[in-house]
Amino acid sequence: MTALLVAAARAIETHRPDSLAQDVYAEHFVRAAPACAHWPVRIQQVPDGDGDPLWGRFARYFGLRTRVLDDFLLRSVRTGTRQVVLLGAGLDTRAFRLEWPCDCAVFEIDRAGVLAFKQRVLTDLSAAPKAKRVPVPVDLRADWVTALTAAGFDPAAPSVWLAEGLLFYLPSPVETYLVDTVDRLTTEGSALAFEAKLEKDLLEYRDSAIYTATRERIGIDLLRLFDKGPRPDSAGDLTARGWSTSVHTPFDFTHRHGRGPLPEPNDALEGNRWVFAHKHRP
Ligand SMILES: C[S@@+](CC[C@H](N)C(=O)[O-])C[C@H]1O[C@@H](n2cnc3c(N)ncnc32)[C@H](O)[C@@H]1O
Repeated sequence: MTALLVAAARAIETHRPDSLAQDVYAEHFVRAAPACAHWPVRIQQVPDGDGDPLWGRFARYFGLRTRVLDDFLLRSVRTGTRQVVLLGAGLDTRAFRLEWPCDCAVFEIDRAGVLAFKQRVLTDLSAAPKAKRVPVPVDLRADWVTALTAAGFDPAAPSVWLAEGLLFYLPSPVETYLVDTVDRLTTEGSALAFEAKLEKDLLEYRDSAIYTATRERIGIDLLRLFDKGPRPDSAGDLTARGWSTSVHTPFDFTHRHGRGPLPEPNDALEGNRWVFAHKHRP
């Protein structure tokens, strides 16, 4: 359901006149899943439009995130990287919608049920990937490294990794293992972007407009799904391992692009950070 929420947001973003990112597949996922077939896929279908905390502000947040991470991945492949790993890929259709170099491989890791649903919708649309797309159905709490390497990932060649909207769902040791493992499976020249939440106490924002609307209107209680334990300092851990990291608020990119969410009181997005890490020669 969280992957469908992001897909609905991307559908809305796609059809905005000042769209930040285009995903023509997104609305088809929303329409194909009975649980959300009534969700809006155009801002015109939302009575309060941009003033709506869920389908206005929160959806725009996902639109901005999509654009920023599209740009990050495309910059990485321009430097010669040919392996892309999407961790918790959900209904991400970057393999289909971005212009990849022809010898690029995109590995999509998520649980089997999510990837099977995604495949069904994309097959019905006769969608053709623009890279070698490799779904890797595995739970990130299980042995995903074996699954990824068995699927053809080469740790000896540079790679770019993405954990978009993922880490805060995972128990802290799983995140630590994930970051350690990305370090172990990457050569110099590789890169990783991920989203983190810095709040010490997530429940402090329980009554924020975003969490309340998501919970009460579409039945997704994000705070129940997020792991509540203390989070590891993954950006710091990567720096300690010799990676260079830069940490941004989403609002930095709102200013850069001239559109997107701005801070507000009692803001569930206040602690969100987008982290960009690059592995250099020691
Ligand atoms: C909010 S969605 C984000 C999806 C996608 N990255 C995006 O931004 O559109 C979170 C995704 O993480 C996946 N996920 C959560 N826990 C996982 C786990 N333990 N193993 C594999 N995938 C997981 C979910 O299935 C879901 O597709």
